[in-house]
Amino acid sequence: MSFYDNDDEERVIGRTRQFEDRDEKTLRPIAFEEYSGQDKIKTNLKIFINSAKKREESLDHILLYGPPGLGKTTLAGIIASELGVGLHITTGPSIEKAGDLAAILTNLNQNEVLFIDEIHRLNKSVEEILYPAMEDYCLDLVIGKGPSARSVRLDLPHFTLVGATTRAGLLSAPLRDRFGIIHRLELYNTNELSSILRRDADILGVKISEDGLLNIAGRSRGTPRIAIRLLKRMRDFALHLGKDCIDAQVANFGLRALDIDDIGLDAIDRRVLNTIADVFNGGPVGLETLSACTGEDPVTIEDVYEPFLLANGFIAKTPRGRILTKRAFEHMGLPIPNGFLEKNGFASGC
Ligand SMILES: Nc1ncnc2c1ncn2[C@@H]1O[C@H](COP(=O)(O)OP(=O)(O)O)[C@@H](O)[C@H]1O
Ligand SMILES: [Mg+2]
Repeated sequence: MSFYDNDDEERVIGRTRQFEDRDEKTLRPIAFEEYSGQDKIKTNLKIFINSAKKREESLDHILLYGPPGLGKTTLAGIIASELGVGLHITTGPSIEKAGDLAAILTNLNQNEVLFIDEIHRLNKSVEEILYPAMEDYCLDLVIGKGPSARSVRLDLPHFTLVGATTRAGLLSAPLRDRFGIIHRLELYNTNELSSILRRDADILGVKISEDGLLNIAGRSRGTPRIAIRLLKRMRDFALHLGKDCIDAQVANFGLRALDIDDIGLDAIDRRVLNTIADVFNGGPVGLETLSACTGEDPVTIEDVYEPFLLANGFIAKTPRGRILTKRAFEHMGLPIPNGFLEKNGFASGC
């Protein structure tokens, strides 16, 4: 069978199937051309995919990391689809025992893609099965117990593991080292989010003006999933206001109703910033303390809220904890405590 033929009925994502999905109005892009932004990652992946296809070999294992909603799962689907092979999807926590992973691996076909979401949550015994599978495409199984136990080695088809995580730092070094391609997804800029929204509004059959687009895109925290969620909500606000198009007026009305300010900070972002300002005089404050004071889960603060606040210079991380920046005080309309900037080594422009 040639690399490009894949008539396996069980494949989860294949070209045909995906183009049929288009009728179901799915917003998830299925080809690189539909995937906006992340240009560097796309350029590299296209080269690696083309060369794997030419060599008729499996693509090297890929690790994608970055905050939630930036397009990691989508990218895994595009990789399989561009390779023209099937995609098998699972998550780290759902693979409980070594045997579960063995069952998944033995079901793969040559060159197929196995996507493991939240790969940092794989348990140790499962991870150990994965090492030889990734490196040598084989499975070491222990059969029997006690003195009669023996180990057998099973060959696996050559496959590509695509791992996604919000926490690359939590991945064990041996696992991280077995990925040949590692990419960090970046937050999107307003232009990129606008083009994602333009495409999605079109698929959803929603009319939206250019200033409506920019308004939503600029307040989506650099995250496509948030932009899409806001687009869907704005549709409701347009209906409520008796308009057939999401224009700046609808967007402003809706975003205000949802408590999202003009740069995209929501109530929880503001609570985090206010807590650091009010309770800790601008910081430094540790993650656990911040979590206790705001009532938000530390993982959520670190994975969901912080990346945007850090990327936009509202908070900074120091060895002693998080501190607010001058920009944060100004945005929140709060006075900067005396000596705060000097004490934290900020140049006055920071
Ligand atoms: N680069 C992109 N271009 C267009 N749409 C995107 C892009 N990245 C993400 N999306 C949209 O955002 C949604 C969330 O993306 P997803 O891949 O599930 O994020 P993650 O797996 O990183 O949490 C998807 O349904 C998809 O429609
Ligand atoms: Mg995902």
